[in-house]
Order: sequence, then structure tokens, then C-alpha cells
Amino acid sequence: MKNKITVKTLQKYKEANEKFSALTAYDYSTAKYLDEAGIDVILIGDSLAMVALGYENTTSIGVEEMMIFTRAVAKGAKSSMVVTDMPFMSYTTDIPTALSNIGTMIKNGANAVKLEGCNEYILELVKRSTQMGAPVMAHIGFTPQSQNVIGGHYIQGKNINATLKLLEQAQQLEKAGAFAIVLEMVPEESAKYISEKLSIPTISCGAGRYCDAQVLVSDDLFGKFSDFKPKFARKYGDMKSLILDCAKQYNNDVKSGNFPNEDEVFKLTPEECALLYTH
Ligand code: KIV
Repeated sequence: MKNKITVKTLQKYKEANEKFSALTAYDYSTAKYLDEAGIDVILIGDSLAMVALGYENTTSIGVEEMMIFTRAVAKGAKSSMVVTDMPFMSYTTDIPTALSNIGTMIKNGANAVKLEGCNEYILELVKRSTQMGAPVMAHIGFTPQSQNVIGGHYIQGKNINATLKLLEQAQQLEKAGAFAIVLEMVPEESAKYISEKLSIPTISCGAGRYCDAQVLVSDDLFGKFSDFKPKFARKYGDMKSLILDCAKQYNNDVKSGNFPNEDEVFKLTPEECALLYTH
């Protein structure tokens, strides 16, 4: 069996200039296959609100729901590191509540949590959470949980001042103890500049080719989620067609009497069967 990927493994990748992979998963089987495929980090992203639960955005999901999916993914991920997104408002009201919610995820199998944003409060929380044994992956640039404040899905760090501001945040998060930082929707030159100035790995989510790692929503990669496709996502498969095709064949087979067949049923012995009609 492969060794478990830990914060230490990711740090070694950074030091060796070796890229690593991250993908989201929300259920046991998908986590098992991603683990088998060698994906380094499996993220129970709050994107699950939209792609798995059909919510309009990521802000509607709660701690209880994230906990259930975390438990399922953790059961499937033997070697991959498991990181859970802390849902909107579950970590921003006060430190004790935040630590208690973070603890819930770790107790249910997460190896680390992901927190969006950077301000004095988040920096303190990153420090306290790490000290308490719950490592933190930070997330800056476009932060979907703040989309109502940002006013839409806008690229972040688009000029020198904005890039320097992101760098300042990234350096503060590194100093506070974050073990990695997701940069979302940032121009690749800005992401490269930031990555070069940090000792911890950066993970690109639409931040180009020069980060230390890449992360995508697995349903985009599999071609399963079809409501929209971000510019930066790559579709490697067509699960939507596969599901449609299987479901249509099954539907036809049920209605035409072609399912189930002789091999797919349980049988009485001929003697027992004869009794049925003669008793
Ligand atoms: O919710 C999510 O899936 C994320 C990404 C970084 C992919 O936060």
C-alpha cells in the first residue's frame, strides 16, 4: 500500500519542485478511485452544494452536510490526503465555534480543512487551528463564499497592486501556519510571482500553469456536471452521456421485458415450484 500523503509530503514536493494533484470528491466510490489513480489530495469542496446537491451556490451548505460527505470520502481515501472545505459562516463568527466545527471535520476523517479569505481574524484562526492539530489549507484570490461581496465571478490580482496585495495575504497565511494556499482565478503571471515567493505550495484553481499543484472539481473533469463549465476546467470524460446512455438502455429493457434475464433472478427448485401450483 502507498504511504499516506501528509502536509510533510506536500512540502517535500514543493522543495523538490515536483507538481502534485488535487481533485474534489463527495462520495466513497469516487474517493476510492481517485486514491487508486494516485491523486495526492482529495478535497471535499463546498462545490458539492452545487454539483451534488443542486443548490444555487456554495453558501447554503452547512457543517452537518459537509461532515457526512467528509466521512464517506475519508473511508475511500487510503493514501490521498483528505481536506474538507469549512462551509460559509461555520468559521467566521468566533474562534471557539470555528475550532469546534473544524474539530468535527477532523473527527470525521479529514486530515486538514480549507478556509477562504485572509484578514486578522482568519490569520488568528489559522494559527489556533494548526496549534490544535488541524492543519489549514488557505484559499485566496476569488473566494466563492464572498461572491455576494465581490459582486460576481471576477478574476483577482489583475494588476501589480492587486497582485502585491495577494502576495501579502499569502505571506501572512504562510506565517500563520497554513500548509498550502489555493489561488483561484488569478492571472498565471501573478500566481507564478506569488508561488516563487512562498515556501509552502500554491494550488491553482484557474491560476495557470506555474503553481505547485492543480485542483479541479471532479464533476467538471468527468463531464458529469453540465449546468456550466469554468474556462479553466478541462473535461476528460463524458459521464453525462454515459449515465444517459445506461439509463435509457435500462428504461427500454425494463419496458420491453429484457431486464432481468435468466441469470439475474433467484429460482425455486423445480419441486418447490411445482408445489406452488398443485397445493
Ligand atoms: O469547493 C471547491 O470545490 C473548491 C475548489 C478549490 C475546487 O474550493
